[in-house]
Amino acid sequence: STSNNVRLVEVGPRDGLQNEEQPITVADKIRLIDDLGHAGVRWIEAGSFVSPKWVPQMAGSDQVFAGIQRLPGVSYSALTPNMQGFEAALAAGVREVAVFAAATEGFSQRNLNCSISQSLQRFAPLLEAAKARGIAVRGYISCVLGCPCDGEVAPQQVTALARELLDMGCYEVSLGDTIGVGTPGSTSRLFEHALQQLPADSLAGHFHDTWGQALANIHASLQLGIRSFDSAVAGLGGCPYAKGATGNVASEDLVYMLNGMGLHSGIDLPALIAAGQRICELLGRPNQSRVARAWLAG
Ligand code: HMG
Ligand code: MG
Repeated sequence: STSNNVRLVEVGPRDGLQNEEQPITVADKIRLIDDLGHAGVRWIEAGSFVSPKWVPQMAGSDQVFAGIQRLPGVSYSALTPNMQGFEAALAAGVREVAVFAAATEGFSQRNLNCSISQSLQRFAPLLEAAKARGIAVRGYISCVLGCPCDGEVAPQQVTALARELLDMGCYEVSLGDTIGVGTPGSTSRLFEHALQQLPADSLAGHFHDTWGQALANIHASLQLGIRSFDSAVAGLGGCPYAKGATGNVASEDLVYMLNGMGLHSGIDLPALIAAGQRICELLGRPNQSRVARAWLAG
């Protein structure tokens, strides 16, 4: 039988903050990451080593890594699209990184400025160097349930790419519904397909809540045995260029749902809510977590 423990990878400091247009100080980022660690979050994606021309908000990730309190038992990871990013991450003392590919050629060009196969060629030396140094590498695939450039995405495309990333040495591949269009129907069809070829513990779900389906999609994934999910405190995120786009599923909402299902994340919900509310106040933006809003109102 499947485990009652669920792994939450907190991506708010990366996927959330990368989309904020206003400047955020390194000190505020560090405060958020430290608050999350103290709330019991054990996997925190703390930054990206990507081109500052492409994603200005993640510039200074080296300073973030230099300033955080590294709590025992907590993994602080970073996105690295190529060797240049990997070397910068190593220099910053990062011990876990993530590579990111796309299920579609259109989004690969938009996000990485290269084809899918070129992106894999860039990841190959990174995965070898990481293996030699004992650095864990996670993989992401974007647009698994729909693409803003190429439209519908077949489960076959996603499973084949996930298998390649695992074969190259990623310990887990997180399947990302980048534009949040998936439903429990399409999510189940995707994971059912992937699970014919890949073990459940090699896969994670990464759901953006743009169309309001993220928790339902996680529930569908849980029923198929998936036990690793990405979420962002306070539902941070949203793209300034895509009207109505929102962030990842809110971590508070996910923890509340898991608690209600008797599943364990190890996260202290009130402390998580406080962490989310603090960053929202610093950013001057409304809290996107329904659970946080209900808690704070009550
Ligand atoms: P490029 O322009 O094709 O790269 O960008 P290049 O190799 O030709 O180099 C061009 C310039 O970029 C050079 O600088 C390099 O030094 C620099 P210049 O000589 O012009 O001054 N450069 C770098 N600088 C810092 N760090 C690096 C790096 N590499 C090159 N690692 C590149 C290719 C991949 C760099 C670029 O497209 C990029 O940075 N993309 C990142 C995009 C990104 O971060 N997207 C958001 C994260 S993914 C995501 O959010 C999805 C996810 O959440 C799942 C989901 O929801 O789908 C994970
Ligand atoms: Mg994302």
